[in-house]
Amino acid sequence: MNIQTDFSLKTYNTFGIDAKAKQFTSVQNIEELTTVLEHNTDIFILGGGSNMLLTQDIDKLVVHVNLKGISIIEENEDSVWIKANAGENWHEFVLWCIDHNYGGIENLSLIPGNVGTTPIQNIGAYGVEIKDMFSSCDAIKITDKKIKTFKKEDCNFGYRESIFKNDLKDLYIITSVVFKLTKKNHKTNSSYGAIETELANHKITNPTIKDISNAVIAIRKSKLPDPKELGNSGSFFKNPIVPLELYKKVTLKYPDMPHYVVSETEVKVPAGWLIEQAGFKGKRFGDAGIHEKQALVLVNYGNATGQEIVDVSKNIQKTILDKYGISIEAEVNII
Ligand code: EPU
Repeated sequence: MNIQTDFSLKTYNTFGIDAKAKQFTSVQNIEELTTVLEHNTDIFILGGGSNMLLTQDIDKLVVHVNLKGISIIEENEDSVWIKANAGENWHEFVLWCIDHNYGGIENLSLIPGNVGTTPIQNIGAYGVEIKDMFSSCDAIKITDKKIKTFKKEDCNFGYRESIFKNDLKDLYIITSVVFKLTKKNHKTNSSYGAIETELANHKITNPTIKDISNAVIAIRKSKLPDPKELGNSGSFFKNPIVPLELYKKVTLKYPDMPHYVVSETEVKVPAGWLIEQAGFKGKRFGDAGIHEKQALVLVNYGNATGQEIVDVSKNIQKTILDKYGISIEAEVNII
């Protein structure tokens, strides 16, 4: 196994931060992963690097989980269970499913990152979350190297949340995920306003899964920066879930504030709106900034350090708290 030292992680994180790993290795299969775990205890697990912000060098062995492979493990007339290994690129996997006419994850097109990290934060977009199609995942326990299968009900999925981000944080490495997808009578979800508009613009009334994917790709490209061109990690913050009383109080002063009902006592408020209203959209502080088309996305214009981006995020959080009394929490893992 090839272990490199003093290794730049710049091309291994979508923010493009030039932090260094004391040691680095990329594992291609479970056996290699197990061997690494047997010989090293001080490790840092790296997937697609699309949901993290590096604020320092990593004084450990960074293990890049590069397990590839897609296979059908079960099917019946209506459904198919597909297992994808953790290192598969998520968007390429989505396109593979669409090409094979397997439906369910088309709304999650063009989300950066790898398959193995999708359950960790229950990725979601345009009315769909990964938990909707998640069947199970296999994960290796770092301490005893045993593989455990987690069923959907084991994962405590919530909005951008799962057990892997909370109780089991840093204890398991996800090695593969099984998704249950449809083979026919696909239940397409085009209820999200931007998708409806995009389809209407193309005069599509009865969309296929490919039409939905194309619409999502067009919307994302128009709003969200491509990490290959401008370093970013998608939404930097979660949309805050706010008690109804606080929401009512804030709307007395800011009646235009959008919201989505979550329960009888809580609403979700778009953080992008709060950040834009607070005047941050498109602002730049050195090489760190707030994207000009989607205020929820922080960007690296080139040579920003992780700390500079964190400083911008803290400035935003404080301003929003002072202005609206609402706390917004980072979605991205700050390391
Ligand atoms: N808004 C603004 N200004 C902005 C951005 C948004 O006023 O700069 C307002 C919009 O006008 C709209 C509302 O906020 O009323 C919602 O905006 P949008 O539809 O763009 O979605 P979002 O809530 O900002 C979430 C996800 C995205 C996902 C989209 C579409 C989170 C944290 N983010 O963003 O996920 O693509 O919905 O479903 O839930 C990601 O996680 O990396 C990500 C991009």
